[in-house]
Amino acid sequence: MLGELRVELAGGAAYPVSLVGPGAADVAGWVRAVAPAGRLIVVADSNVAPLYGRALSEALTAAGRESRLLVFEAGEASKSARVVASLWEGAFEGPVDRGDVVVGVGGGVAGDLAGFVAATLMRGVRFVAVATSTVAMSDAAIGGKTGINLPRGKNLVGAFHHPVGVGLWVSALTTLPERERRGGIAEVVKSAVIAGESEVAALEASSAALAAGEPEALAAAVAMAAGVKCAIVGRDPTEKGERALLNFGHTFGHAIEHASGYGEWTHGEAVAAGMMCALRYGVAQGLTPPDLVGRIERLLATQKLPTVPPSLSLSEWIEPITRDKKRSGSNVKLILCRRLGRCEIVPTPIDEFVAWLGTL
Ligand SMILES: NC(=O)c1ccc[n+]([C@@H]2O[C@H](COP(=O)([O-])OP(=O)(O)OC[C@H]3O[C@@H](n4cnc5c(N)ncnc54)[C@H](O)[C@@H]3O)[C@@H](O)[C@H]2O)c1
Ligand SMILES: [Zn+2]
Repeated sequence: MLGELRVELAGGAAYPVSLVGPGAADVAGWVRAVAPAGRLIVVADSNVAPLYGRALSEALTAAGRESRLLVFEAGEASKSARVVASLWEGAFEGPVDRGDVVVGVGGGVAGDLAGFVAATLMRGVRFVAVATSTVAMSDAAIGGKTGINLPRGKNLVGAFHHPVGVGLWVSALTTLPERERRGGIAEVVKSAVIAGESEVAALEASSAALAAGEPEALAAAVAMAAGVKCAIVGRDPTEKGERALLNFGHTFGHAIEHASGYGEWTHGEAVAAGMMCALRYGVAQGLTPPDLVGRIERLLATQKLPTVPPSLSLSEWIEPITRDKKRSGSNVKLILCRRLGRCEIVPTPIDEFVAWLGTL
């Protein structure tokens, strides 16, 4: 089902994206293979540490590798400079050198945070990502984007730091809260829209099983999205072009997350409603076929994902969007969909965009 997924980077560098598990000892075996030497610093949040992080660290130690666990409080609020500083300090509380490895275990927050710590600790140590949420498996763990939020916006500080391997610990999805699981399915739908008709049709065919959280349907869906991400990242590792398409739905989604104070809406829920905004805006511009709106809306609704944004004031929409990194001059770069498999970056005059937002 997953085949041999790899992210191929320029210059011949590559790293594997592998299904790992089911047990912690199995994951430890895979970590030892992708990072064959060095001490291991396992980073996990307060939910994932007792379920998987501690077991993984202990399994690594049992296999003869020096390993310790650093735990941070679960939640998006931990993607902060304060928590990064506490993880740097935690790393230096034991022996550490540049041959060591940071292993981030968990969702997208653990990956972004641990990856950023790996990118910056002693100017960079190796990083291994072990994904345990649908968001992390389908999107966040793959591609080397790491970083933290500032009070004024998401992901404003960070670094590109590719992992040496990405493990998708799919059996861990059994303990992922249902709402979090669904949120990741929004990223999967996003990947399918970017990829094309057959990917969307496959999700439609398995939508009931997916909504019920059936393990095989989930594994197939996250693997499909992981494959889409690997291919795009390989072609555009530092987001100079095509990779920006992966932000489909995110410009609107980030505004929703920002206005709701990060937490009210999960990232995936915000992206789901954000994709619907982008599709509807595309229809208003005569670019997106109207039937696509209904099709994606049905798919998202079957997954109990929101298809309309919350009621935001114009300034709540505009402020994060115009400050967004996807802005250039008096245009905002929106990712719009011409058809399945053909999303485009469309520079949109801010005035035009604001006028449309006013109709929401
Ligand atoms: N770097 C990237 O390219 C990229 C891409 C997409 C999203 N992201 C980031 O990812 C983050 C969202 O990721 P997320 O939704 O995984 O959030 P998250 O890491 O906060 O995980 C969601 C919740 O699920 C819990 N959890 C995770 N795995 C679990 C498991 N197997 N069992 C039980 N509980 C589990 C976590 O403790 C947390 O409470 C955002 O910060 C977003 O910016 C990054
Ligand atoms: Zn996302």
